[in-house]
Amino acid sequence: MPRTMLTHDVLLAEQLDRKANELKVINAEQLAARLKEHIVGQDKVIDQIARQLGQRDASKRTDEPIAVFCFVGPPGVGKTELAKAITDAVYKDRNHLLFYSFAEMAKLPQAATTLIGSPKNYVGGEGKLTSDLRRIPNAVVLLDDIEKAHAAVIELILSGWDDGFLTDQQTGHKVPTNGAIFILTSNANSREIGELVEAHTGTFDELNRKVKDLLSVGESALAPELLSRIETVFAFRNIRGIDIARVVALRIERRAKSYGLAVADGGSRKEILIDAVQRLQKTSTKSGVRDITLKLEGSVDDGLIDAKAGGATKVRFEVEDGKVKVVPVTEDRTSVVSAAAPAAS
Ligand SMILES: Nc1ncnc2c1ncn2[C@@H]1O[C@H](COP(=O)(O)OP(=O)(O)OP(=O)(O)O)[C@@H](O)[C@H]1O
Ligand SMILES: [Mg+2]
Repeated sequence: MPRTMLTHDVLLAEQLDRKANELKVINAEQLAARLKEHIVGQDKVIDQIARQLGQRDASKRTDEPIAVFCFVGPPGVGKTELAKAITDAVYKDRNHLLFYSFAEMAKLPQAATTLIGSPKNYVGGEGKLTSDLRRIPNAVVLLDDIEKAHAAVIELILSGWDDGFLTDQQTGHKVPTNGAIFILTSNANSREIGELVEAHTGTFDELNRKVKDLLSVGESALAPELLSRIETVFAFRNIRGIDIARVVALRIERRAKSYGLAVADGGSRKEILIDAVQRLQKTSTKSGVRDITLKLEGSVDDGLIDAKAGGATKVRFEVEDGKVKVVPVTEDRTSVVSAAAPAAS
């Protein structure tokens, strides 16, 4: 036992050293640009996040997580989507997103054993978080609906940040947290926060203070010890109007790609898609970004399948009677004709 612990401590020390070098690669401007390609309408949040990640160079402490971010605000505005985009941009691999939802893990102290294993002499296995992080130390750890987590869980997460490692209760393994970016999300007081962000005209720091105040009151308030440990809270704004059409464009483009179809230049213009968005907003009771994008995204499936079956490699999207239509794009006729000309003569 002491021997394995020793080996593990050496490994831990090596990992701490290695991190110092790896972190230099984050270029704030490039990162922000990449993230903005995938996330619509949250530019201020993205700029701050990229700046904070960029500052994490070798001179920073290496015995704590790369960063701890807290994303708050209304549902369906890109919080989880941004966590995914950060994973892709920083770690280049979606498997490096480790996801734990506290809405699913009931508000029980046992949630702690789910995350870091059952105590040594109890039935049960290694913890999910500790085993995941042991396998993938360079990860985005997404802790969803953090306001629903039990106090015991908050305590263990805080200790994982302060000590720079988590100890699995079952195996005794010390798992470093210093290669990870922790992202907490919360819908606590999200309507008020959404309104506040929209009305706010002052500085980012002032907004941060006001959002923290909102997060500390009411039934779904965040634990005070957690709030005091989080430097910046990133408040997401509501996605409206043309921005919804931009999200729709991103989603249907992704859908087309999943069928092996390219989207022609200008083939998913938000100015066109906005018609379909507005029609849905008028006719449906569910008019949040999530509902609208899901509905429109789902409605292009048949068209994409037909286009694929018809041998198309490219498509463009049009809107007719408020519905999104898939139009296969065939090769430019003139080039086909001129290419065929020599053979005919
Ligand atoms: N700002 C945005 N940029 C790009 N896509 C978005 C944006 N907002 C929402 N979406 C799309 O809508 C879907 C729902 O967004 P997401 O899961 O990020 O919501 P959320 O803010 O995490 O909401 P919740 O608080 O309910 O978890 C995503 O899959 C994404 O495709
Ligand atoms: Mg989410």
